[in-house]
Amino acid sequence: MATRSKLVAGNWKMHGGLMQNQDLLKEIIAGTVGLREVHIAVCVPYPYLSQAQLLLQDTHVYWGAQNVSYYAQGAYTGEVSAAMLVDFRCRYVIVGHSERRASYGEDSATVALKFNAAQAAGLTPILCVGETLAQRESAVTEQVVAEQLDAVIESEGINALAKSVIAYEPVWAIGTGKTATPAQAQDVHAFIRDRIAAHDLEVAASLKILYGGSVKANNAQELFGMPDIDGGLIGGASLIANEFITICRAAKN
Ligand code: PGA
Repeated sequence: MATRSKLVAGNWKMHGGLMQNQDLLKEIIAGTVGLREVHIAVCVPYPYLSQAQLLLQDTHVYWGAQNVSYYAQGAYTGEVSAAMLVDFRCRYVIVGHSERRASYGEDSATVALKFNAAQAAGLTPILCVGETLAQRESAVTEQVVAEQLDAVIESEGINALAKSVIAYEPVWAIGTGKTATPAQAQDVHAFIRDRIAAHDLEVAASLKILYGGSVKANNAQELFGMPDIDGGLIGGASLIANEFITICRAAKN
């Protein structure tokens, strides 16, 4: 069985400022030094990529972005290409976050194009999937997650997933303080891994599947203790140094 190292990635969303970022990043570096077995990353707003690069290069903390254009270049006002992210030495980029799907009309086909653009440039996409509350209550969680996953598998092939990270983020748990129970999360993580295993056992065994949705210092350890949860995508708690550091530490072992 493949041993998967854990990843804890912060998703700052549209938060931050030069001064507060500097304090936060310095505290994160200092507070997680020596945690070598846990991969740590922060996905920051575009304007702060240069600051992240400056402060994080030569440290153990990786950085990335929260969105990317599926075009390589051209007349696309307001868009940012994958090559531009690479210019700032990003390692990760989030694609298909539910806030992008819900508020910016990104469907699964669009997300697959973004996934492809990111990977073609050498970035590691963090592909977000997850159901809404109404979908969970109608017992279609697995269908929803399968559709979101299959769109990428069908367009990019199963091997593309080997160089990516999946984040299961139930929409009803994001920013609500309502976390999925470890058992609820584990069920969906296992479903995702099984679906991938049906295509390729090795890819399934090595793929990191993160949980996201109100992960906090006080619930991270229990979530990360589940067999198919390989870390977390952290929103609100990634903006508070002590919370984020404690979550990173909870990913150890
Ligand atoms: P949250 O956000 O931790 O604030 O719930 C998670 C996310 O949206 O990635």
